Amino acid sequence: MENRNIRTIGVLTSGGDAPGMNAAIRAVVRVGNYYRLKVMGIRRGYNGLINGEMSEMGPRSVSETLQKGGTILQTARCLEFKTEEGVKKAIEISRVFGLDGLVVIGGDGSFKGARELCKHGLPTIALPGTIDNDIGCSEYTVGYDTCLNTVKDAVDKIRDTAQSHERCSIIEVMGRAAGYIAIQAAIACGAEVVLVPEHKWSFDEDVLRPILESKARGKKHSIVIVAEGIGGVIEMAKEIEEKTGIESRATILGHVQRGGSPTVRDRVIASEMGGKAVELLLEGKQNRIVCMRDHIITDVDIEEGLAMTKTLPQALVDLAKKLSI
Ligand code: ADP
Ligand code: F6P
Repeated sequence: MENRNIRTIGVLTSGGDAPGMNAAIRAVVRVGNYYRLKVMGIRRGYNGLINGEMSEMGPRSVSETLQKGGTILQTARCLEFKTEEGVKKAIEISRVFGLDGLVVIGGDGSFKGARELCKHGLPTIALPGTIDNDIGCSEYTVGYDTCLNTVKDAVDKIRDTAQSHERCSIIEVMGRAAGYIAIQAAIACGAEVVLVPEHKWSFDEDVLRPILESKARGKKHSIVIVAEGIGGVIEMAKEIEEKTGIESRATILGHVQRGGSPTVRDRVIASEMGGKAVELLLEGKQNRIVCMRDHIITDVDIEEGLAMTKTLPQALVDLAKKLSI
């Protein structure tokens, strides 16, 4: 695969970091080098692009990175890049460094940035890297599986102490406005209650009632998983305790969910997606999002992809309820 118009490409990570981003960077660098491209690693997301913080990467620059959490390129949220001047500056710098194409690894905010770069003449491919799994056009986002496994380990530990003290434990998980982490964690960890922002809920019907019913059925402790899009777990713990008499404790899992060595699933999918991004550039494509559809790594136009929404499967919400009896 050769394309005379593409000789140098850049790669950056943007927005919240996610485990597996390093595997994606590694794949862009190594697959790029395999096709004899020069690959520039850009530091600190769009900030680094605007400020020319980049250097050439080779196969050895990404040695020993596959198993590491975070992103070796660092990441950032860059306000300046949201302005026309910021994008123009980035385009100027990319010309100075001779970039013929760019791979942006991040979430939907970062994809909007990628779309701007394409509009201004820099062929860009976006790759979904976020623990939230909230990208409409892709069944999977790099980092989600590792995050879920971290949540699973944490909730299992909290369950040990909830069981010992016969308490109710309320646990807030990340996900921004989406409930994917919450719903899958609830099923994997056997939660009595799960609250996601995609569904209406009431405290009496959806929190109090299942806790009291499960107590009546002989359960000695309960686990409530709350998506951050709902929040308020500290107040919720107090209210549960007041209204049921069951001792209750709240835990906000926070950034522990973003760290750690990526799982096999994240390493493999990130590698596939990174390789695909380079091949798309070599095929002369741009303004595309690499994504997973029907379990296959493919691509979609950025505009179309950004317009797509993902619905939290009702079947999963129903199943979590059925399993909690
Ligand atoms: P994520 O990529 O994880 O969704 P953000 O929403 O914070 O994270 O976006 C990451 C970065 O992408 C922002 O800091 C900004 O630099 C860039 N970005 C976001 N939205 C836009 C936009 N509408 N136009 C240009 N750049 C954007
Ligand atoms: O998008 C990933 C994510 O971890 C969200 O789940 C969360 O809402 C947000 O980023 C937290 O962002 P920050 O690291 O800036 O606090």
